[in-house]
Amino acid sequence: MRTLVHISDIHFGRVIPSVAEALLAALEADAPDLVVISGDLTQRARRGQYRMARDFLNRIQFPKIVVPGNHDVPLYNVARRFLRPLTRYRRYITRDMAPFYQDDEIAVLGINTARSLTFTNGRISENQIELIRERFCPIPDNIFKILVTHHPFLPPPENLKLPLVRRAGKILRMVEACNLDLLLAGHFHMSYAGGSHSAYRTLARSVLVIQAGTAASSRMRTEGNAYNLIHIHNARVTLRVRMWDGERFDDHRTRHYTYNTDGGWDYPTLLAPGATPSDGKRSLEN
Ligand SMILES: [Fe+2]
Ligand SMILES: [Fe+2]
Repeated sequence: MRTLVHISDIHFGRVIPSVAEALLAALEADAPDLVVISGDLTQRARRGQYRMARDFLNRIQFPKIVVPGNHDVPLYNVARRFLRPLTRYRRYITRDMAPFYQDDEIAVLGINTARSLTFTNGRISENQIELIRERFCPIPDNIFKILVTHHPFLPPPENLKLPLVRRAGKILRMVEACNLDLLLAGHFHMSYAGGSHSAYRTLARSVLVIQAGTAASSRMRTEGNAYNLIHIHNARVTLRVRMWDGERFDDHRTRHYTYNTDGGWDYPTLLAPGATPSDGKRSLEN
């Protein structure tokens, strides 16, 4: 069995210090095999915010996979945004823009989806799609394969029209071809999960998608601070959404997912009540 902690959208510059401290303590107690941090480490990519993010990451003594988010690219400093968008991320966080972890049960690849031009929406380049193929296709399917991005592949059930990572369809074909099992992302500050086939037409095999809320930021949308605790064992995933209750992080909801050899990782459809199966589904050509 492997245990992952998935945290996202910490947004140093807008962090609630007591929640960040409690998050570190919770993480220590969870004793994960790997910590995944899916971007938006800072609020405005400022030097001081990056220093706080670096100090926070240095206190996590477990293996880590970290990717940047759109807030880790400067917004207002146009020269820096276009000429050196992730210089500070490389200096303070990591120079590795495609971090990879593998042991005898899981393989995890992080991909940078943050871009200067599409500040809010992310994208993945052709080279990155090729990297996903190179990393995952040779790995046997008994290894559980996980891709980490900041930008999501699946919309939240409350708003199926929210923009997703660009080229999501093309990437999902690769994800399907190389038998990936799980996509982890953040960005919307909402915790939800689903099967990719619930939102896309023509996907034969469903990959599990798990989205994290904001772990310690006051920059919230519709829910409180939360992170995901994920247990992976054989063909079964247990997701525990751990939510801040004002004093500590506690189990908010627990879901189990099992692998179905017919169609992959299954989960009830995200469609609104009364909608037909093709309503609201996206083409793979986006
Ligand atoms: Fe964010
Ligand atoms: Fe974001």
